[in-house]
Formats: sequence, C-alpha cells, structure tokens
Amino acid sequence: MIDKKMEEALNGQINAEFYSAYMYLSMAAYFEARELPGFAHWMRAQAQEEEFHAMKLFAYLVERGGRVILKALEAPPTEWKSPLHVFEDTLAHERKVTGLINDLVFLARDLRDNATEIFLQWFVSEQVEEEDNVQKILGPLKLIKESPQALYMLDKEMFQRVFTPPPADGGA
Ligand code: FEO
Repeated sequence: MIDKKMEEALNGQINAEFYSAYMYLSMAAYFEARELPGFAHWMRAQAQEEEFHAMKLFAYLVERGGRVILKALEAPPTEWKSPLHVFEDTLAHERKVTGLINDLVFLARDLRDNATEIFLQWFVSEQVEEEDNVQKILGPLKLIKESPQALYMLDKEMFQRVFTPPPADGGA
C-alpha cells in the first residue's frame, strides 16, 4: 500500500499532466487561428504525450493500491504575442514540470518508497527529452522571429512529429 503523502503527491502530478495537455491544446487552438497547421499539429501531439504521462501515473497509483482523485483543471492561457512567445512559455512550463518530478523523487526517497523512486526515473529521463524537444524549436524561432516565409517553412517541418506510445506501456 502506498503512503498517503505519496498518493497525494502523485494525484497532484496527474493534475499537472492533464493541465499540461490542456495548455498544449490551447496552444494548438492558437496556432490553428493563426493558420499555422504544422505548429498546431505539433501541439496536439504534445497534448497526447501529456495525457499519456497522466495515464501512466494513474495506472501506477492504482497498481500500488492508491486512490486516484481527479481535481479541477485550471483554465490555460488562450493568447500569445507570437509563436516565439508560445515556445518560451512551453520551455518555462516544462522546466516547472521537471522541478515537480524532482520533488516527487525526493519525496519517494524520504519515504523510503523504492518502487515509486524507480517508477519516477522514466519521468526524469522524459523531462530531459521534453526540454530538449522544445529547445530545438525555440532556436530557429528566435532566429526567424516573425518572418512569414521562414515561419511558413518551419510550419511544414512541424508536421513530422508523431506521438507513438512506448510499446511496453501498451498505449495506456
Ligand atoms: Fe508531462 Fe511535458 O511533461
């Protein structure tokens, strides 16, 4: 049986992951309105990934005999000054999530909950990848700023992203 403090903290992370999905969907909606469908596609894939993160935590908590409690989701922002601002917010958000994951690891250590500490290592590695993915787009965006032609070209490249859940997780 999982410790109540760990249960509560993992429920908090489930909420944070669903909020992330909600925020990226809001960003997808912003890009659709700006007629940048490639960026919108990228954000939809990002939202799917966040939902996967939430469900991975959900399944783990159930497996450990914990109780999943879903809480209200905060409304995400709906407007940004530019695509560059969207990706700056994305990087700031992912860094915040990395901090949350690290706090969970420290809590698991304090509680001597080895199983949760090992489970969370997947999220630690995932956050390295998430931050790197965003930085790879932020770089070109800083260079091109609002150049319509360059944005158009980058938008086409953004279609390449597809979300494929890791096979071992069975798409849960
Ligand atoms: Fe689930 Fe983007 O962290």
